[in-house]
Amino acid sequence: MNKKILFPQVNGLLHGGDYNPEQWLDRPDILRKDIDLMKEAGINTVTMGVFSWSVHEPTEGNINFDWLAEIMDRLYDNGIYTVLATPTGARPAWLDEKYPSAMRCDERGVRNHHGVRHNHCMQSPEYREKVRIMDTALAQRFANHPGLLMWHISNELGGYCYCDTCRKKFQEWLAERYDHDIEKLNKAWWTTFWSHKFNSFDQIDPPYSNGENCVLGLNLDWKRFSTWSATDFMKFEIDTLRAAGAKEPTTTNYMEMFYDYDYHYMSQFIDVISWDNYPEAHNNWQSDASHLLERSFNHALFRSLKPEQPFMMMESAPGVVNWRPYNKYRRPGMHKLISMQAVAAGSDTVQYFQIRKSRGSSEQWHGAVIDHIGTNDTRVFKEVASLGKDLKRIYEVTGTLSDNKVAIIFDWDNRWAVDDAWALAKETKKFDETCMSIYNEFMRLGVEPDIISSDGDWSKYKVICAPMLYVLHDGIGQKISDFVEAGGQFMSTYFTGYVNKDLLANLGGFPGDGLDKVFGIRSEEIDTLYPDDEVSISLLDKADKRSLSVEVHDYQELLRDVSADILAKYNNDYMAGTPAITRNNYGEGHAYYVACRVDQNEIEFLYREMLEHAGIPYAKLPIGIEKHSRFSEDKRYDFYLNCTNIPIVIKDVRGYDILSDTKIERKLTLEKYEVAIIRS
Ligand code: GLA
Ligand code: ZN
Repeated sequence: MNKKILFPQVNGLLHGGDYNPEQWLDRPDILRKDIDLMKEAGINTVTMGVFSWSVHEPTEGNINFDWLAEIMDRLYDNGIYTVLATPTGARPAWLDEKYPSAMRCDERGVRNHHGVRHNHCMQSPEYREKVRIMDTALAQRFANHPGLLMWHISNELGGYCYCDTCRKKFQEWLAERYDHDIEKLNKAWWTTFWSHKFNSFDQIDPPYSNGENCVLGLNLDWKRFSTWSATDFMKFEIDTLRAAGAKEPTTTNYMEMFYDYDYHYMSQFIDVISWDNYPEAHNNWQSDASHLLERSFNHALFRSLKPEQPFMMMESAPGVVNWRPYNKYRRPGMHKLISMQAVAAGSDTVQYFQIRKSRGSSEQWHGAVIDHIGTNDTRVFKEVASLGKDLKRIYEVTGTLSDNKVAIIFDWDNRWAVDDAWALAKETKKFDETCMSIYNEFMRLGVEPDIISSDGDWSKYKVICAPMLYVLHDGIGQKISDFVEAGGQFMSTYFTGYVNKDLLANLGGFPGDGLDKVFGIRSEEIDTLYPDDEVSISLLDKADKRSLSVEVHDYQELLRDVSADILAKYNNDYMAGTPAITRNNYGEGHAYYVACRVDQNEIEFLYREMLEHAGIPYAKLPIGIEKHSRFSEDKRYDFYLNCTNIPIVIKDVRGYDILSDTKIERKLTLEKYEVAIIRS
């Protein structure tokens, strides 16, 4: 793989975070000290301006960036680069007072009052105009500044607005989508049901909480529209910066497992993927290793949005956050582990919220590199500074890339549709968890999956899993068929292929769109189990001539017309003796169907089989060890992370650990939370 360096001006990985010097303009002594401390911590980048609007423009039209220019210059003189944000994540009071349309309306259509953040109307023309003026001025002043690395668009874009402007935009968007033909929309949304027919697009409301929220097609299109609307806002900001001369790359900081918008859609319009990673380490319901695997899934999701380049971990907490029900400090060593996990998974940055702790207001107790005590000898500062040294030591991994052959399909609209479907059990649908459980199983075998969309590029993958792919977009049946026919290994589960992109049930059996032939089965019933129902299947282990019983949870499908090989059968209740897991030889490949929910660990044989068919090497890792790999043209870097608080030995590891500067001959011993990066 050819390296892809995001920021050639910086020699190595980025280390830094959100810096809010505008809170300290009356303390030049502190601003000077900040730079000394940053240098001591090996910090080479800061993110500025995220919430600076009221300092940039204290009264309407009175824009002054001198404070920022001075600080940016001084940072640059000290070898610290700037990620510069547009300040649109929060608005000054004067703006909302004069242009109330900038404030969002809630799900009853009622206008919010001024305050908080992340709550602007994405479509308000008055707000757009203020944003245009602000972003133009910013770009005119700072584009091409030698210290400027990139533009950070707004902050954590999210949420929905139900104002009249957005209502109108939604109607226009729908008219476009349904070719200005209201009958097309009526058909797609099946509106004859409950007399929900519309005569024209202008009768359609957003799904107000006290209005129309039972037309599932409308609900889904509203989410698609809201993705479009936020993306439209983001593009507007990018276009404005570009029109004013900005050439630097753009990003916007995404959030973990984010629900509101489809990041596959949004990501087409930005240059670099970044996300904010806030692990809840040392919690009281799971092990650190399990928790870190969830982080890892997120890293994979964000990496896979633009797999041809590294991503950025834009925020993470030094020490502690302040917004959880319980705000527990990261124990010694956890900071390094979490930071290195990001790099292992493909991030070229370790960035924090925040460099210096605010003195007042709601985030005054959120962790920071520099605490209120202001010294370089706090535990957190020392761990950050030590990480800064480690990141310098491993500079050669900058720009290296993952090269995975396994992928899991994760479509946002499928996720929404599964949750909104009046079926199964509200409590146990667990689409996200289901995807994660498949990810975890591959990770246990030392094989790292990417997380992709059904519409994306599948050409590099040999094994693809599509759990609960309830919604099939146009052409996906054929795409799966082609993939398997050409030798791919494809695995699906219960609740797959039930509806088309409009949520209309596929007629003629599930999975629809021709997939019954690919899998060699049809599903006739999906049965929902209570948590205490006792149902199991038997795996037919031919080699062993034994059958192994595995518990079923939550869902079981009754299959019919089975021409595929049967790998497991139901044991009890009315499905007893019928197929529960199947494998169909189709073209050159295999299509697996897992008709019930089981612990993926219990069907490890199926994973091994898929990997063997695909010729992908695997080796089971000790419990609590994560492995990730990054590649350059001629080197491979295997990251081993000990995600437990006990020492672990890993066998058959050979190469050079660039983190500890030691040669590993055969076995690698990792102390608690320790990381090794083996170059070969
Ligand atoms: C988010 C925001 C930051 C800050 C942190 C606190 O990620 O982007 O401004 O509020 O949370 O954890
Ligand atoms: Zn609005």
